[in-house]
Amino acid sequence: MSFKIILLPGDGIGPEIVSAAVKVLEKVGKVCGFSLEFAEHLIGGIAIDKTGNPLPEETVTACKASDAILLGAVGGPKWDDPSAKVRPEQGLLGIRKTLELFANLRPIQPFDELLDASPLKREIVEGTDILFVRELTGDVYFGESGRYGEGKEETAFQQMIYSVGEVERVVRLAALAARDRRNHLTSVDKANVLEPSRLWRQTAARVMKEEFRDVKYDVVLVDAMAMYLIQRPRDFDVVVTANLFGDILTDEASILPGSLGMLPSASIGAGGPGLYEPIHGSAPDIAGKGIANPLATILAAAMMLRYSLKRDDAAEKIEAAVRSLLADGLRTADIARGKPSLNTAQMLDAVLTRIV
Ligand code: IPM
Ligand code: MN
Repeated sequence: MSFKIILLPGDGIGPEIVSAAVKVLEKVGKVCGFSLEFAEHLIGGIAIDKTGNPLPEETVTACKASDAILLGAVGGPKWDDPSAKVRPEQGLLGIRKTLELFANLRPIQPFDELLDASPLKREIVEGTDILFVRELTGDVYFGESGRYGEGKEETAFQQMIYSVGEVERVVRLAALAARDRRNHLTSVDKANVLEPSRLWRQTAARVMKEEFRDVKYDVVLVDAMAMYLIQRPRDFDVVVTANLFGDILTDEASILPGSLGMLPSASIGAGGPGLYEPIHGSAPDIAGKGIANPLATILAAAMMLRYSLKRDDAAEKIEAAVRSLLADGLRTADIARGKPSLNTAQMLDAVLTRIV
């Protein structure tokens, strides 16, 4: 058995953490008896530098012909000029849209071993287990945008846009995920102000009523959700929300487990290859220093094994290795709270030696 994996290391710490995850995949493949074929392609800032395009056609073609995609991160100060015509982020948005990866799964499940790394009190965080399902191919991210006027009158706009079909499919996917978990779905919107949120709320309610009467369903406004997340995170199971709200809420939720550096994500949808990535960004401040936490990307590789390659056995080995090294007190700087820490290579070694 062999799987074709496309690597999109991208920018900043992307190459360091993707190469760590590849070593983990190779090891777990050996142990579990399957092989992986890797091919690396360009995306983001480095793709702009080399080809002028943040998402070259070769990259898209290769991704479409793969079993799954592992991405590092895109973006950095070098490409941050607000007047630039091409931006690294267009590469990431482009690949999500082209492959119709309309659902982004972001599990927030603090490791018990890391509870003291959370800025929140242990009694609030302990037992939290949330699966965010962030809609990924609609909303302001793909709405029409533009500018007009001059001077103080110069005005910018960006359309927030959702169709019934887009809401239905992501709510359905989230409700199915809830059935496999604790059977509770929360939909987050801003229906008291925004028209797309009202369409979202009506559509979600109808899908739940028609197809998922057995799933406990509730609705929370996004501003309240921002508060509940740090006040009573244990009360949530699956949370489905729009692209922009999901982007923001999952960064907030990522501090529950102590660090953005621990959180993987899976982007799935139309049934083709899925895209797996850490939820953190390119961390240009530490890029090239060899100290980045590779665990989010390694855990993203585990999600890839589970969702796209159907190798739960291998996914579990990786997750067990991570739990075990955390239990042994091993930490990279972002989760060490000032105590001695491992660099990227040492953390990778710690994972590799625990995969047996
Ligand atoms: C994320 C990132 C991206 C997003 C950026 C880099 C375009 O923040 O995956 O959460 O906003 O979706
Ligand atoms: Mn984000």
